[in-house]
Amino acid sequence: MQGWYHGALGRAASALLATLGLYACATRPSPGNPAPPDHRGEPAEKAIDESSSRTRYWARMAELRGWTPVTDEPFVSLGHPPGNHLARIYVSPEARETYQNLQPGTTLPVGVVVAELQQDAATGRPGLGYVMTKQEGGRWEFMLVEADGEILEQGQVPPCARCHAEAVADSLFGVRAGE
Ligand code: HEC
Repeated sequence: MQGWYHGALGRAASALLATLGLYACATRPSPGNPAPPDHRGEPAEKAIDESSSRTRYWARMAELRGWTPVTDEPFVSLGHPPGNHLARIYVSPEARETYQNLQPGTTLPVGVVVAELQQDAATGRPGLGYVMTKQEGGRWEFMLVEADGEILEQGQVPPCARCHAEAVADSLFGVRAGE
């Protein structure tokens, strides 16, 4: 069960770098990435749309943590920046079995949530959450969330979608053999 992983990762290495760059840009202004201009004092219609900068939270974080993870033991992610983290995968109860038996051609139904949650390897403290939700029409919505559910990225996030397009079935990598 190793083959597809290595292939996908080789092709995806640049996507991963893009991901890292994306998050750095999104969170921190730096010399190469200056803070957005200050719009105070400009006419109201020119001001930044407040709704796009307001902190938003994903409401289902607590519910999801109540599900039994599909992986017995936390593992080192091969796809997401692992840092000092281990990961666990959670799947909507109605799709749990389908996910565990994922094979080419499998599709998960609309409404299903699949999430890979990181935890600190030493302390077990919750870290970032990588979430996919099946939309009407069959597309996945991707989300990157903080441990408390704060949404950092949401939608057809290109690095997520690109790398996951290389996965086993329905943009999902599934459970690795031995986990
Ligand atoms: C460089 C490739 C890559 C990128 C970019 C990536 N992933 Fe993943 N993802 C993986 C791999 C490989 C796995 C399999 C488990 C592991 O090793 O972490 C995975 C597992 C997952 C899972 C568990 C479901 C499954 O079986 O695939 C979810 C949910 C997920 N990723 C969401 C996301 C989201 C959301 C993003 C963007 C914020 C993202 N991923 C970006 C490679 C990637």
